[in-house]
Amino acid sequence: MNLFDVYPLFNIEIVKGKGCHVWDTEGNEYLDLYGGHAVISVGHSHPAFVSAITEQVNKLAFYSNSVINSLQQKLADKLGKACGYDDYALFLINTGAEANENALKLASFHNGKRRVIAFRKSFHGRTSAAVRVTDNPAIIAPVNEGLPVTYLPLNDPYAVEAELKKGDVSSVIIEGIQGVAGIHAPSDAFLQSLRRLCTQYEVCLILDEIQSGYGRSGKFFAHQYAGIRPDIITIAKGIANGFPMGGVLISPMFKAVYGMLGTTFGGNHLACAAAIAILDIMERERLIDNVNRVGDYLMKELRRLPGIKELRGRGLMIGIEFEQPIKEIRTRLLFEQRVFTGVAGANTIRLLPPLCLSMKETEEFLNRFRNVICP
Ligand SMILES: Cc1ncc(COP(=O)(O)O)c(C=O)c1O
Repeated sequence: MNLFDVYPLFNIEIVKGKGCHVWDTEGNEYLDLYGGHAVISVGHSHPAFVSAITEQVNKLAFYSNSVINSLQQKLADKLGKACGYDDYALFLINTGAEANENALKLASFHNGKRRVIAFRKSFHGRTSAAVRVTDNPAIIAPVNEGLPVTYLPLNDPYAVEAELKKGDVSSVIIEGIQGVAGIHAPSDAFLQSLRRLCTQYEVCLILDEIQSGYGRSGKFFAHQYAGIRPDIITIAKGIANGFPMGGVLISPMFKAVYGMLGTTFGGNHLACAAAIAILDIMERERLIDNVNRVGDYLMKELRRLPGIKELRGRGLMIGIEFEQPIKEIRTRLLFEQRVFTGVAGANTIRLLPPLCLSMKETEEFLNRFRNVICP
């Protein structure tokens, strides 16, 4: 059987990781400024993460959501405290798309409305509703088209109000910082307007923090820069350092009803053990402080480099936009300098390193980056 060929692959197989480094089958070492797409939060193979999942799998990997799993409540307690939403409720699933799928459903169950407001260039995942609110017609299949969605420009509160006034909107969904679009943050003032408008028109505000959350922006959630509280927050990626997991944080205004949401694998014992370990490590190693220190330094040094059209982002979520396509820069970074980076569109390099990136590793990255862009 062949694999369904949907991924354009680099001819590299990664077989080992430690901290912010990974190794391929030939023994080549790479600096990881990509974090496997913003997934690696505390670093590859962190010993406390490894022992937490090893201990758990030796006891029990999985049992169903029909019996008590106290690890879920332990995770909810720790997460509520870490992110400042301890009055919200947690629903656990396995991926980011599932988190958004459930968030959109929950909003619609709550207010009985259908239409969703999303933003231009948004990315929210690939399942039915999540892909429909993603602004990329190439990945929306005819079966996804039933959900009515209006895509609006970022940072235009008047356009949002004109739509909300029509009375048929269930929810507004927005990324804390747009990732796939190339690291575009909504302004604090825009998020504050969204909060006000959603309250005024009784529309649910959903913050997708799947890429920008879990400390990556320098605060636990990127929207916390704006000082707002959304009705629903979605999380995934960094939550379990590569173990598949997603979550929906739900404000007290939503009433849970037996059976309204559900999942087989979501919140399983192994995933919870992994996620609990991640929050413990983040706290013990003060990783959010590290994100601010290292992120500020990285931004400052990148600003000195020639040929960059625009630098965007917060913390360790950085977009470096060039005038020209970056394909060659990224390829040379990977194969000559042995640095993994991400991309967004044709002209932007995306940096999404593990949150434990050290100053020394940052210097190392900057040296290798300079070798490519200022030879
Ligand atoms: C902002 C955002 N939302 C949702 C998703 C979808 O997450 P997943 O691939 O885990 O379904 C992603 C993935 O890149 C994302 O960046």
